[in-house]
Amino acid sequence: MKLTIIGTGYVGLVTGACFAEVGHQVVCVDNDAAKVKVLQAGGIPIYEPGLEELVKKNVAAGRLSFTSSTAEGVAKSDVIFIAVPTPPQPDGSVDMSFIEKVAREIASAMTAYKIVVDKSTVPVKTGDQVAETIKRYNKAKVEFDVVSNPEFLREGFAVEDLMKPDRVVIGVRSQRPVAAMKEIYEPFNAPIIVTDINSAELIKHASNSFLALKISYINAVSVLCEAAGANVQEVAAGMGMDARIGRRFLNASLGFGGSCFPKDLSAFVKIAEQVGYDFRLLKEVQSINVEQMNRFVKKITEILWVLKDKNIGVLGLAFKQNTDDVRQSPAIELCQRLQKEGARLRVHDPKAMEKARTVLSGVTYVDDMNAVADGCDALVIATEWDEFKQLDLERARRALSHPIMFDGRNLFDAAEMEKAGWIYKSIGR
Ligand code: UDX
Repeated sequence: MKLTIIGTGYVGLVTGACFAEVGHQVVCVDNDAAKVKVLQAGGIPIYEPGLEELVKKNVAAGRLSFTSSTAEGVAKSDVIFIAVPTPPQPDGSVDMSFIEKVAREIASAMTAYKIVVDKSTVPVKTGDQVAETIKRYNKAKVEFDVVSNPEFLREGFAVEDLMKPDRVVIGVRSQRPVAAMKEIYEPFNAPIIVTDINSAELIKHASNSFLALKISYINAVSVLCEAAGANVQEVAAGMGMDARIGRRFLNASLGFGGSCFPKDLSAFVKIAEQVGYDFRLLKEVQSINVEQMNRFVKKITEILWVLKDKNIGVLGLAFKQNTDDVRQSPAIELCQRLQKEGARLRVHDPKAMEKARTVLSGVTYVDDMNAVADGCDALVIATEWDEFKQLDLERARRALSHPIMFDGRNLFDAAEMEKAGWIYKSIGR
């Protein structure tokens, strides 16, 4: 099928590449002309495993192209996906100006029936607003349908999540676009659920908020584990064996971050407020997340006492492993809090150093993870990168003034670390 994706961020670019991979003819549109040039020249603006190969292969096969003209994108396809940012506003509500602008642009360019699909994460009832906007700004008065098709990809696993989705949600206002939407997703062999448009929009916020709740839940349990002398990983393993609960998203940590969970939680609380419901449960999820970071900083100061002029090595800057994304990264927040206390930092991340430089200054960026500990008073693990498990612990132990590690991601075995002479403080153990 001929498909256009407007917005080439994480969601738009990966969606475009995966649609092309299964044989659709895809045009990706972005109003950032410089970004389009990079993409046309074979460059990829983000790090995402497998994405570069996919884009190159499908561009070469003539199934994937890039343009900065929305009109061109709209003219070339029957189905137009909107994948533009919906950033948070200071009060937690969602800034809908990009969606509204794209809806107007699509409306101005439309001369025949189109299916306009929203893929961005949006508040419930956005579909109605988009439909109203298109109706108002389409001079040709052509017929169209608006569909909600939320995206559930995780950064770092975006290609995998898109190629093998757990489910595809299609929210519609009428039956007319259903067959085309099913045809688009048929090659992915995933269960498809067709709902009304408001329900589809709610599924996205409700899912992300639930996952964040799961993390805050285990983080709260981790506090109990510490107080009671239990091990949160064993508790999570035991809980997770119940199929109704599941082991995933039960990793206690220094808190969740990223461009989705914090934003989607605030938005969902706000959406609830707007329809007259005080979603206190989610407010608590947010507070637990804040407290989790506070508690971790306290753990560090309790042992190092005065942080002023202490040298601390920090492993991890990305908000989680397998990505170079540092937006709302707990690791960056932690660095900034340690800096505020006067600590000097040596930092490393396998992929996120370049992006971190734009938000974190006054630290020493170290290329070799094993050299981070050199001349430091303590080592901190802030992101759950698998490669950190291969850290040369013996070398680190010798390089530190005293072998102290604060592990915000529970990467190492606590008993073994202590046996090896470390003062090892992790989460919930
Ligand atoms: C999330 C959703 O998983 C995805 O479905 C949605 O489309 C976008 O938001 P993402 O933000 O890419 O994806 O990251 P995710 O893997 O969900 O992790 C979010 C944060 O939670 C990270 O900071 C991660 O380190 C943290 N986390 C995750 C935990 O602290 N513990 C866990 O058990 C899982």
